[in-house]
Amino acid sequence: MINGQTQLFGIIGNPVEHSLSPAMHNAAFAHLGLNGVYIPMRPADLGDGFRGLKSLGFVGVSVTVPFKVAVMDYIDEVDPVARKIGAVNTLLFRRDQDGQNRCLGYNTDWLGSNQALAEALDLATSTVLIIGAGGAARAVGFGLIEAGARVLVTNRTESKGRDLARQLNCPFLSAHELPTAQADALINTTSVGMAPKKEAVPIDPALLARFPVVMDIVYAPLSTRLLVEAKQRGCRTIDGLKMLQYQGAAQFILWTGREAPHAVMRQALLEELR
Ligand code: ATR
Repeated sequence: MINGQTQLFGIIGNPVEHSLSPAMHNAAFAHLGLNGVYIPMRPADLGDGFRGLKSLGFVGVSVTVPFKVAVMDYIDEVDPVARKIGAVNTLLFRRDQDGQNRCLGYNTDWLGSNQALAEALDLATSTVLIIGAGGAARAVGFGLIEAGARVLVTNRTESKGRDLARQLNCPFLSAHELPTAQADALINTTSVGMAPKKEAVPIDPALLARFPVVMDIVYAPLSTRLLVEAKQRGCRTIDGLKMLQYQGAAQFILWTGREAPHAVMRQALLEELR
């Protein structure tokens, strides 16, 4: 029941109507009996929106496209890993000793991808090949390096891929080097395979047998062509909902200090996807 004590949470983005996060977080609040509500918000102006959140006493807010980089200008303290990634997806508002409402900014995307991959691998002793060089690849890449993994990058546009590889201090593999690439896992961070172009794959499927673990960050459809092809070749697969679920769980812990109810959150995501 929403009442005078209800704590406010939400997500800012544009578009935000199709976000799965409200279902995931509200299910977690309900399961634990916490008096909180999580709503979707589309600010007409980021600065106005941010000041509104602060003034209205929001406790925690998720940030999605196109605000993940620009929101850093408004935050009082950005977590060091989020700073390296160059993007914030989580805001935590907290009163300091002087009673000032301060905003802390985090990135939980990398925690989500690490935790998803860690179900299948010991990251500290593994090599992971990342496909892509956009914002998602940056979060995944810096996250893997935080965990002590060895990273390789490949990307359709070589110059962008080489840029990211330089920042991660890791090798870049061009298309002709992929047939001899060796890694314990492969992760697709591009939008290739997302509906409606469901048949697209970001790498020649014949190469997949080289990677014991294959993860996709695309979750619509849940079973992407990449994951179907990987499974057929005996690879262990990790779907894109895992990263979304674990990054949400990391937010939930930051905001509430409570352990996240993983199964409940995943079930809520699955129902919302249907
Ligand atoms: P995000 O911030 O969500 O990661 P992005 O910054 O637009 O999105 O990055 C998209 C990534 O997906 C890029 O690596 C892009 O490759 P390019 O650098 O060559 O553009 C990759 N990508 C998108 N569509 C692709 C396609 N059809 N084939 C291969 N790579 C694709």
